[in-house]
Amino acid sequence: MTDQAASSSRFYLTTPIYYVNARPHLGHAYSTIVCDAIARRKRALGIDTWFLTGTDEHGQKIERSAKLAGRTPQEFATAISGEFRALWDQLGLTYDDFIRTTEERHKRSVQHLFATLRDRGYIYKGSYTGQYCVFDELYVDGPPGTPCPDCGRITETVSEENYFFKLSAFERRLLEFYEANPGFMQPESTRREVISFVRGGLKDLSVSRTSFSWGIPVPGDEKHVIYVWLDALANYITALGYGTENDEKFKKYWPADIHLIGKEISRFHCVYWPAFLMAAGIEPPSSVRANGWLLFDQGKMSKSRGNIVRAETVHAVLGADALRYFLLREIPFGQDGNFTFDALVQRYNGDLANGYGNLVSRVVNMVHKFFGGVVPQINGGYPIDEYPDETALRIRAGFTIEQFAKRFDELNFSQALESLWIMVAETDGYLTANAPWKKPADRSDADHTALQARVLATAAEAIRIITALVYPVLPDAAAKVWRQLGQGEIADAARASFLTHLAWGGLKPGTQFAEPAPLFPRAEKDAIERMVQIEEENNKSVIEAAGGPSPAQAEPAAAPAPTQEPKKKAEKKPMEETKPTPAPESAIPPATTAPASAAPAASSPTPAEVPAQAAAEEKQYISIDDFAKVELRVAQVLVAERIPKADKLLRLEVDLGYEKRQILAGIAQYYEPEKLIGRKIVIVANLAPRKMRGLESNGMLLAASLPPDGAPVLAGFLEEVPLGARLK
Ligand code: MSP
Repeated sequence: MTDQAASSSRFYLTTPIYYVNARPHLGHAYSTIVCDAIARRKRALGIDTWFLTGTDEHGQKIERSAKLAGRTPQEFATAISGEFRALWDQLGLTYDDFIRTTEERHKRSVQHLFATLRDRGYIYKGSYTGQYCVFDELYVDGPPGTPCPDCGRITETVSEENYFFKLSAFERRLLEFYEANPGFMQPESTRREVISFVRGGLKDLSVSRTSFSWGIPVPGDEKHVIYVWLDALANYITALGYGTENDEKFKKYWPADIHLIGKEISRFHCVYWPAFLMAAGIEPPSSVRANGWLLFDQGKMSKSRGNIVRAETVHAVLGADALRYFLLREIPFGQDGNFTFDALVQRYNGDLANGYGNLVSRVVNMVHKFFGGVVPQINGGYPIDEYPDETALRIRAGFTIEQFAKRFDELNFSQALESLWIMVAETDGYLTANAPWKKPADRSDADHTALQARVLATAAEAIRIITALVYPVLPDAAAKVWRQLGQGEIADAARASFLTHLAWGGLKPGTQFAEPAPLFPRAEKDAIERMVQIEEENNKSVIEAAGGPSPAQAEPAAAPAPTQEPKKKAEKKPMEETKPTPAPESAIPPATTAPASAAPAASSPTPAEVPAQAAAEEKQYISIDDFAKVELRVAQVLVAERIPKADKLLRLEVDLGYEKRQILAGIAQYYEPEKLIGRKIVIVANLAPRKMRGLESNGMLLAASLPPDGAPVLAGFLEEVPLGARLK
């Protein structure tokens, strides 16, 4: 987005709608906070803005999560959707609408879209036999057992009668569209990835399912439910009333100016979505902007990794503004960024407590002390060349207003804030250089008062400009400062489009300041400990909650496979034990460490699901501390041989990287010893040694036990893993 584009009179921006299979974490809050900051700035620029967010509640993944939690899908979705909404409210996010895909208004409108696509000849009936990733709700090319290209989990084989969308008809049109609209997808890496995907050829897409029922029925053929991604993507228009009598918003706000999304869902937004829209005769969105991932302990923050931090925790200790500032300042938008409590507290203390907060407090206090809280008149009574910095500050302000706008509107938040903080530092330097609190012996009283008036009025004006600019990022703090500067309510100013005429000279002499109030109290050493502790306690209480699992605890058991995020996997270190890692939120019992190779039919519970479900129903949970006692590690088989007179046992020598071990395993009837050599397996490394047939076994290997006779299938990895790596 550029200033020109933004100056059109309306602006529509959206977050992805969040799956309700797990409660919100910082990764989700990130996209929503970014949108909130954009929306606030647009509104304060006098642009009629519509900011949409919501929850994605249909599909097999949610159906399975609900089942696991012992709830109906609707109850389950309502509970988690409520958590998302409550969190956005707690963080003060100013969305204009919150859509749930289970709402009637959405269902009707999606059915209208489906019927339109069918009437226009873009949907036909066929049958699909192939692979499907339930975790990503994605069709995958390849034979049974193929891992999902997005999450690495093993896909399931589905064979169903389906409706198909003629995606293949859009290959050329999409490429022409990308060419004609170079700003459509950003960052560049996303653009390249999407274009090469389309150039690789598009196949028709199955857009209905029959093997489960948690979805929107296909109009006129109700045994089919509409593919969850068609259902979900449509939210961007259904929320505006598309296809209903009440479609003024659709007419007014569509096409969207920005769909803000996470980078892993760009194919859905940049390929399928514009194709659906073109097919329905609707204009595609103006731009799709992908944010990177928030990483914690080197991995994408996600529930399945168990490495999440919740926004509530940061909110409780440092406040919502601190979180907003950190996310926007620390992470260049579009790139992955690390979240650490250390970095958060450092930014907070450095930039907010000691930087902006301290500057405001110094100036407001001095205006109170020396001028009774009234902005003094600059009377020119003191020679101007004594304050060369004053002109510099005024020039800096003009430059900052422009540079901040340009960078922010390009979604380059980090550099926008960097330029604003240069102005914070210069204002600070200006104060220090002129030291209005100290009267040199050779300066007359009148001259000193004139200096104080000039310096404090100038610094206060600089603060007013900084505060107006920073308002979309620090709305709570800006509101407090605005009041202290005697400017009233900043929300009113925003409604009156105050950013359109922001210029030096707005702080009038005679303005009465309000009492100073603390903005960002310095975070002491224990802030980090408190946040870590809150996370730990929350995880414990979630996992050990009496009275049955909360919906937030469930995760589809259909996704038993690797916890790695395969994209960029090579760049990421496995999680380390040494960090104060919050415990996983998942309450799935360890029984879910099932074979990665199982490819169950879509409609029936997977082998992994059965024990998990049963355990969930019986509420037999272990605590995360119990689980942490089991040391699971990656080992490689160096030697494998039969043991004389023991037809079930194999003797293995395995390498853990840091040591070699002998293990005896009862798998001789199922595995040829020579085929095991070189194979990477998972062992329980801290099992007490025991003797069998006169040989010592130091550990136990992990295998799924398949019905009916318990045939073992060794656990392993699809990706390269170093020896000795711990499984957590
Ligand atoms: N329901 C789909 C989106 C449908 S939009 C029509 C979905 N949901 S999600 O809950 O899995 O993810 C929602 C958004 O949260 C995605 O944009 C995803 O990238 C983002 N994030 C989830 N974890 C994240 C991080 N750790 N870091 C940054 N964003 C992350 O996909």
